[in-house]
Amino acid sequence: MSVEKTGTGAMSLKILAGSANLSLAENIARNVNVKLVQRVLERFPDGELHIEIQESVRGHDVYLVQPTCPPVDEHLFELLLMADACRRAGTIHLTAVIPYFGYARQDRRAHGREPLSVRLIADLLATSGIQRVVAVDLHSQGVESAFAIPVEHVSAVPTLAEAVRSSVPRNAVIVSPDLGAVKMAERYAKLLDLPVAIIHKTRISGAEVSVQRIMGDVRDKQVLVVDDMISTGGTIEKAIQALLEAGCSPSGIKVSATHALLVGAAAERLGKLPIEKIYVSDSVPMSKQVPIPLQVVSLASLLAETIERLHKNRSIAKLIGPQ
Ligand code: R5P
Repeated sequence: MSVEKTGTGAMSLKILAGSANLSLAENIARNVNVKLVQRVLERFPDGELHIEIQESVRGHDVYLVQPTCPPVDEHLFELLLMADACRRAGTIHLTAVIPYFGYARQDRRAHGREPLSVRLIADLLATSGIQRVVAVDLHSQGVESAFAIPVEHVSAVPTLAEAVRSSVPRNAVIVSPDLGAVKMAERYAKLLDLPVAIIHKTRISGAEVSVQRIMGDVRDKQVLVVDDMISTGGTIEKAIQALLEAGCSPSGIKVSATHALLVGAAAERLGKLPIEKIYVSDSVPMSKQVPIPLQVVSLASLLAETIERLHKNRSIAKLIGPQ
């Protein structure tokens, strides 16, 4: 039996989780002081997913927590089916809390004959009954414009910057490893009162990137490379190699990224670099050992506060990400 919380409206708040990151969902629920809604998620012998919500969600304000991390399609489809189950079970308002949003990098058609994946997923989420999305440090602001439903885009940067603060010296430089991460780097720089350097990167393939040039002074400086995500580790690898070639301090190199996908050989790749420490959030579960000191900061309190404020129709302006 779940504990219910009644906000300013008549609806009470319930939190339901998919299987993608149960421990984060449990921590969010603990922070909100509710129990996760009981549900069954199982596979039929033919591989089809079967979902059943085991308590009433009729008339409730439901928050469905599910990052669409690898295996992306499985987690996405699970989210869609859970949303449909909530809608058909009478949920009044349904918000998907998607701490890591898969497919966000496919927010435009770079070549002909490609799908506009983010747009299709936005439509599928709305069709499944989701009325609002909460996302954390989306790959780009453009992702939001694919949605007709509201997207509340909160940021892990203040939490990560706080974790990093005591270990970056006054002469450190925040490095954006590509043009897409500049806004995020500026946000770290503002919070930590440090300058920014920018790397001009070109992507050759899904796992390979090349660095064109570095804008900003990094010579003899300690660097903190910041990004929205580490996937194959290719971007971080090339960034650090370029920074070392440009004469940055080989000691004290740090990396901070919101989403630690660490797919394929990413952990081994990062392990070969002179990185002192990596800071990431728990938006996705940590599936691998990384041979470098790694600090995982939890998004539980940020997402719990977001949920409570949304439930009570209170402002979340202070939690919104870089615009
Ligand atoms: C790309 O623009 C993103 O911001 C990340 O830099 C990138 O997706 C990281 O992927 P990987 O670790 O595979 O280079």
